[in-house]
Amino acid sequence: MTGDANDRSVVRRGRFSGGPADEFVSSLAADERTFAADLAVDRAHVVMLAEQGIVDADTAGAILAALDDVEAAGHAALPAGEDVHEAIETAVVERVGPDGGRMHTARSRNDEVAACIRLRLRTDLLAAVEATLDLRATLSSVAEAEVETVMPGFTHLQPAQPTTVGHWALSYERAVARDTDRLLAAVDRTNASPLGAAAFAGTTFDVDRERVATLLGFDRVLSNAADAVTARDFLLEATAALSTHAVTLSGVAEDLVVFASRGFVEVDDAYASTSSIMPQKVNPDTLELVRAVAGDAAGDLNALLTTLKGLPRAYNRDLQRATGHSWDAVDAVTAATEVTAGAVATADWPADALAAAAGDGFSTATGVADLLAAAGVPFRTAHEVVARAAETADGTPDRETLAAAAEAVLGESLSAYVDAAALEVALDPVESVATRDSPGGPAPSAVADALDRATTGLDEDRTALAERRDTLAAADERLRDAVEVYHA
Ligand code: ARG
Repeated sequence: MTGDANDRSVVRRGRFSGGPADEFVSSLAADERTFAADLAVDRAHVVMLAEQGIVDADTAGAILAALDDVEAAGHAALPAGEDVHEAIETAVVERVGPDGGRMHTARSRNDEVAACIRLRLRTDLLAAVEATLDLRATLSSVAEAEVETVMPGFTHLQPAQPTTVGHWALSYERAVARDTDRLLAAVDRTNASPLGAAAFAGTTFDVDRERVATLLGFDRVLSNAADAVTARDFLLEATAALSTHAVTLSGVAEDLVVFASRGFVEVDDAYASTSSIMPQKVNPDTLELVRAVAGDAAGDLNALLTTLKGLPRAYNRDLQRATGHSWDAVDAVTAATEVTAGAVATADWPADALAAAAGDGFSTATGVADLLAAAGVPFRTAHEVVARAAETADGTPDRETLAAAAEAVLGESLSAYVDAAALEVALDPVESVATRDSPGGPAPSAVADALDRATTGLDEDRTALAERRDTLAAADERLRDAVEVYHA
């Protein structure tokens, strides 16, 4: 072997050498996910090199044609390599000859890999955002349909106050809306270009970092070259946003599992399974899997935090093992979001059973205390009156029991404070819900107002998603046009 720079074996030696650790070291199989991203990064870089006069137009044309050919052959046809970046370069050199190696002028796999991950992740995150929007639409539909459907509300899993299915559904819509917001923020911080950073210390070539960023639809350039190749905080932020959303989903899932166990909701058969031994069973276990995804995503986030902590500046190979955690999280959480939307959309809320249970456990007690407080009794004293009545009654206390408690605590008759009709309203679950019409409350009027705001927010977020996708589609076209200039 000579020291000829045109000899590819020289280039390859010491990188991916047929040694015993090759399989352990290689990320080529996992890199299938960034195959298309790497081709785009290669194209944008080569176009920029040609535009800057760093590579001549003919060579650029030959490399760009080879990239088309590599794309058509597909990831599975790539030669063996340490990773997709090296394998595509090798495949280009195989087609173009040594001049193909000019593609790697003024860059390193360090800025290359970071660009590829960001490129792919932003698209995957936008799909996750879309799934949250669809789930919000579903929750809002349920809220609209079940705005009057009174159900028991729980704290500590104990009957607490009557509420409505609509209010329950909107409570999750609000949480998912914040999840959407966090995911969009993660998209925007992910969408920055590390290209032109090279290994970490920039390059002697007159590169145009802004041009490459524009061709690839990145919103901006990461200014410091060492930061650009090192930074994986975008993985942390994305995975944290996904984990947070998974926790929201796990709440929806857990509520539905608990409600189903009490006969308060019927989960559609498509989201349930039967028992292999107990013929009568229909288990809402799809939702149990949703609940478990929150654990997986938290594991991915923890793995990332642990892998990234204490790494020195610039590229370290640990980073290769970090990436997969974000792919796992985005795949699992997006799928869980879609499945949750399906389960919620098809669930049945048995109004009669819910209404019958809504008053269980003297769930209207707070409303009775509110009534006394509104009549001038300090709330803490009113609480004491109603608590005393609850202690003596079996279930919801009747008028006499409440009157006796009022006598005992206040030394005055109940009727001095509340009239009989108002007390009936307070004791009735349906009427009691209707009176809780403070902003954000469960009264049908309050839920209807909240629903209007949720619909506006959803429309705004759909626009935000469409804008980002339009920007990326425009960049795809820009890159295609720029490449076209060099095609013979
Ligand atoms: N396979 C690597 C990764 O996924 C790509 C970058 C390798 N760079 C290097 N200097 N070894 O992170």
